[in-house]
Amino acid sequence: MTSPAPDPWRPGLDYEAHGDGYTGRRQTDARIAAHVHRALGDARTVLNVGAGAGSYEPTDRHVIAIEPSATMRAQRPPGLVPAIAARAEALPLDDDAVDAAMAMLTVHHWDDPLAGLRELRRVARSPVVILTFDAQALGRFWLMDDYAPELLEDERRRFPAIADIVAGLGGARAEAIPVPRDCRDGIGEAYYARPEAFLDPAVRGAQSAWPRLGPGVEERIVTGSPATSPRAPGMSATGTCATGPNGTAPCASWCRRQADWRRAAPARSGPTRRVRRRRPR
Ligand SMILES: C[S@@+](CC[C@H](N)C(=O)[O-])C[C@H]1O[C@@H](n2cnc3c(N)ncnc32)[C@H](O)[C@@H]1O
Repeated sequence: MTSPAPDPWRPGLDYEAHGDGYTGRRQTDARIAAHVHRALGDARTVLNVGAGAGSYEPTDRHVIAIEPSATMRAQRPPGLVPAIAARAEALPLDDDAVDAAMAMLTVHHWDDPLAGLRELRRVARSPVVILTFDAQALGRFWLMDDYAPELLEDERRRFPAIADIVAGLGGARAEAIPVPRDCRDGIGEAYYARPEAFLDPAVRGAQSAWPRLGPGVEERIVTGSPATSPRAPGMSATGTCATGPNGTAPCASWCRRQADWRRAAPARSGPTRRVRRRRPR
């Protein structure tokens, strides 16, 4: 696999420490699940690796779930099978043990993605279904491209390239899956049409990208403090721009949009709405 190795100084999210509360924001999106289940074909026995709390796990087939984090295993709902404590890189199954294997939004967390993919291929008789992000497409998301260059750079390094995943499986078909604008699974991209969500620490807390950033970077991105981004020259801590796109015009992006998001955020958050008093009659 030719993707860059994970940066040893900034390891992936420690799900033992940070996985608690995952299911509050991260749940199966039925429209994405439909793609996954279609790809599983007519498999009757399915291995789910990096299964977490069970998102996207089929309920109409026999499932074996593998999940290394006890914190994540504990969040599996009672209707799903308990998960076995193991890792993708060393699956405790015989060759060709299951009809199909799946790995949802997890390959970028594996210490050795290539070894893990080989293991999935070894134990599955037919489809191996991987749901992941295309590192090459990440820059199309406005959050990364316009406002969070550090996030974009780190995420590009973190995700194995699609071509490498295909090669690691010994050949596969890649299918682009659209993210619905009201996606239930709180990945970063789920909020492309709800930008004010990024101001909510609980939303960011359910996304593994943020803790990987250097000191102060998350705060800088969220508060709109001076950016190191070449795309936001001259942006000041007060949210106005000393240097606009043509050298004099005010910044038309982050500072203005962020003010809009802050106005939108309370209207969307449940607690604020719940405590609003009725007008006296
Ligand atoms: C973003 S969560 C995804 C969980 C679930 N598949 C879902 O879609 O909600 C990533 C999961 O990968 C697991 N993981 C991390 N390293 C792993 C490894 N080497 N082998 C298998 N799973 C791993 C984590 O513990 C975590 O539960």
